[in-house]
Amino acid sequence: MERKSNNNNGNRKIVYIETYGCQMNEYDTELVKAILAKKEYEIVKNELEADVVMLNTCAIREHAHRKVYGRVHSLRHARKERAEEPPLIGLLGCMATNLRKDLLEDRSLKIDFIAGPDSYKRLPQLIKQAGVSGAKPYDLTLSEFETYEDVYPRREKGVNAWIAVMRGCNNFCTFCVVPYTRGRERSRSVDNIVEETKRLADEGFKQVTLLGQNVNSYRHENDTFADILAAVSKVKGIERIRFTSPHPKDFPKEVIDVVAGNPKVCNHIHLPLQAGNDRVLEKMNRTYTKEEFLDLASGMKARIPGLALSTDIIVGFSGETDEEFEDTIAVMKEVEFDSAFIFKYSERKNTVAYKKFPDDVPDEVKTERTVRLNDLQQEISLKKNRAYVGRDVEALIEQEEANKSKDCMVARTDTNKLITFPKTGRKTGDLIRIRVTGATPHALKGEQIGP
Ligand code: SAH
Ligand code: SF4
Ligand code: F3S
Repeated sequence: MERKSNNNNGNRKIVYIETYGCQMNEYDTELVKAILAKKEYEIVKNELEADVVMLNTCAIREHAHRKVYGRVHSLRHARKERAEEPPLIGLLGCMATNLRKDLLEDRSLKIDFIAGPDSYKRLPQLIKQAGVSGAKPYDLTLSEFETYEDVYPRREKGVNAWIAVMRGCNNFCTFCVVPYTRGRERSRSVDNIVEETKRLADEGFKQVTLLGQNVNSYRHENDTFADILAAVSKVKGIERIRFTSPHPKDFPKEVIDVVAGNPKVCNHIHLPLQAGNDRVLEKMNRTYTKEEFLDLASGMKARIPGLALSTDIIVGFSGETDEEFEDTIAVMKEVEFDSAFIFKYSERKNTVAYKKFPDDVPDEVKTERTVRLNDLQQEISLKKNRAYVGRDVEALIEQEEANKSKDCMVARTDTNKLITFPKTGRKTGDLIRIRVTGATPHALKGEQIGP
């Protein structure tokens, strides 16, 4: 393809976007594609064809951060090797907001423009200005109102569509950068979300996942999170509804009742624990105690038969002692999550923890604790998955060919377990019945037994 690059004016129109971080960032990339497509930008899948390259970044941990730095250098290097001029490089997303002007002033990191998560509508303008007489435009304004409800994301065809129902976070957990990178909470109207869901059903999507940094604190006028779950489930053609990430503090009875009683709302809840010790939880500003978390988890399990629970844990938060870590182990043993994401505490600039609490748990200790928790979780996940063997489950086909085996397809149970089974000629998006014949800590195996 001929590149239409022109270094001296802003007429660059071929764009490549790479996404890091969480599902919200994936959704935002779809928004950005829609915004640019309107202004006649062409989106390509090969970075070497593009004259504008954007990285939609994540700032949650240092590792995510470093990856992006490395990537900016490799992008430039690739063009140098081909004796081509470098593309314009833009940073979007959470790193953009957090680093503010530092990025533009760091001479070793050559960035041409920056747009924070609430500034994507200004991207066409920013790209136009970038590189003109050395300009490095940026817009990092955080909005109290921007929900992008007037933009219909440009999605890849598939089974699942993301819908951001709220954006931002007001919780200020002391370790977390998100409230600073994404600003305050704001929600879209139920009608607007239902309209988008109807359009998705018409396009053939079978599942929607409602997204928010703190999704169950959704509030629009008098409508609550339980109301959107109920409203979206009425849309014909949508078979499954998922949501992420909820906060344990926002689980009124109504939400648990909808998950229990509405067959389309999947029997899987991600319930981030972070730590199992009260002193640590308080220092993290999580606003619940170990007992409150345990009561919530057992109440959910009692009310929703077959519920799968997953969680996030941070090990080695400031001052976490061995005894306090043992409390996390104890809670993991008691709740028996189906799966868990375990992270080493990573100190983030601007957060309360950064300003007030030293990052004083040695890295070796963080590593040891991560290994112990992962080992424990593997055992629990295997036990949980083995309990499925011999049972018949309903599953939604996601892949017509498994990555590891050409003879198998991959489906997902409503409890969010992947299940591989020999090909049957059924298609992506079909709901089928499968008899489970085997289990590993990460997945199930089975055979299709019916439609
Ligand atoms: N809003 C979600 C979390 C989004 S971030 C919630 O409250 O559950 C996803 C996960 O990253 C968090 O649950 C936490 O476990 C982890 N995380 C956030 N900040 C971190 C940090 N500074 N170091 C390590 N892990 C972190
Ligand atoms: Fe971060 Fe806490 Fe908000 Fe989750 S709820 S995004 S962990 S501040
Ligand atoms: Fe990362 Fe921002 Fe998501 S910091 S995890 S991309 S909200």
